[in-house]
Amino acid sequence: MKVDVLLGLQWGDEGKGKVVDVLTPRYDVVARFQGGPNAGHTLEFEGQKYVLRSIPSGIFQGDKVNIIGNGVVLAPDLFMDEAKELEKSGHELKSRLHISKKAHLIMPTHRILDAAYEAAKGKNKVGTTGKGIGPTYTDKTSRNGLRVGDILDNFEEKYAAHKARHEEMLRALNYTDYDITEIERHWMEGIEYMKQFPLVDSEHEVNNLLKEGKSMLCEGAQGTMLDVDFGSYPFVTSSNTICAGACIGLGIGPNKIGDVFGIIKAYCTRVGAGPFPTELFDETGDKIREIGHEYGAVTGRERRCGWIDLVALKYAIAVNGVTKLIMMKSDVLDGFETIKACVAYKQNGEYINYFPYDINSGIEPVYVEMPGWNQDLTKITSEAEFPEAFKDYIAFLEQELETPITIVSVGPDRAQTIER
Ligand code: GDP
Ligand code: IMO
Ligand code: MG
Repeated sequence: MKVDVLLGLQWGDEGKGKVVDVLTPRYDVVARFQGGPNAGHTLEFEGQKYVLRSIPSGIFQGDKVNIIGNGVVLAPDLFMDEAKELEKSGHELKSRLHISKKAHLIMPTHRILDAAYEAAKGKNKVGTTGKGIGPTYTDKTSRNGLRVGDILDNFEEKYAAHKARHEEMLRALNYTDYDITEIERHWMEGIEYMKQFPLVDSEHEVNNLLKEGKSMLCEGAQGTMLDVDFGSYPFVTSSNTICAGACIGLGIGPNKIGDVFGIIKAYCTRVGAGPFPTELFDETGDKIREIGHEYGAVTGRERRCGWIDLVALKYAIAVNGVTKLIMMKSDVLDGFETIKACVAYKQNGEYINYFPYDINSGIEPVYVEMPGWNQDLTKITSEAEFPEAFKDYIAFLEQELETPITIVSVGPDRAQTIER
């Protein structure tokens, strides 16, 4: 059986959580393959709203197995808080949420290091979520990390050695004004709590499930433009958010990948620092933010808003091998007289239609402008009811991006989803 992968194609917060929840009934297993609690995936159904950080968004549909893969970085305290919250609302997790022993642990000192590195960057701050993501992946690749499997044996000693090394690094950075006593106590509680979950060799489990003919959906976190290799470096996260990340973060061969679903908003947002060619600094941007409730699910920060960027999207589709597009938050543009889409960049006076090495300065978006549909999409339940101007917008995007838009989302609720 093939594995389908679902990813954000912009700068995150495209609505991945909602779509994973909608698609889960079609799969046996849902798995996260990268990122950590820097993610905030929002789901709404039956009048309830949930924000997931580390737990895959397939957790609410029946008794599906959900896997946290080796490519994920996990903070035991935040994981415990998130899981307990779900258990309180009646969701059984301990038998069907499997955690890879190879996933790396985010230590309290990783979070302090995150803050210290940001402080040291001065005006070039990345604007991280402060969850310790960068330092944890750095320890992983420099072969200094602590993994989930480490908690099963002689953990205190290993933890103390890693902590001492971090403290030394913090002293070298002259960043010593912190107190993690309380966080550490909670974190250790999280370690004990995690032991109640199946801690697995997830690469074996995943491949065995596939051999048995089970189907699987991999849920991306962040977005392609935040990928550490292909995103707007250095203003990126520290993992590979693209489709290949699913192979690495779960131990799946590339020949097992089936559909690659690329999730886009009908416009574009970004949270944190870094270049954003189509960003709007005027009342149109403010209007999108207010209507779209564009405030970060993790940090509450204002999301920067702008028009859809087809240059960046073509690039994202290419590096991921996207086979199907899913367009979210179409309803947010309901009240706009006209809508713009960026079809090229002007860089140093020259028109370019590819995503260049450096978008950090000197990029001017070139737009086409289309009539808006000026109609409420939120109650629509089938494609036949789409206003003509909305159909035209979809057709334009499909033609430009050379990829079909197979699902359109017209509101945050699970039910506000239209398949084409
Ligand atoms: P993710 O990180 O990609 O899962 O996305 P987030 O959950 O961070 O952000 C998406 C936000 O948009 C959430 O608040 C969702 O509830 C909301 N949302 C998702 N789809 C739609 C939609 O079609 N219309 C509207 N208005 N909101 C949506
Ligand atoms: P989801 O999965 C939007 C951004 C941060 C910052 C940069 C690096 O909800 O789409 P990090 O803490 O990862 O070192 O921060 O990446 N960022 C996100 N932006 N959505 C996310 O996740 C993000 N995860 C990280 O704002 O600019
Ligand atoms: Mg989010």
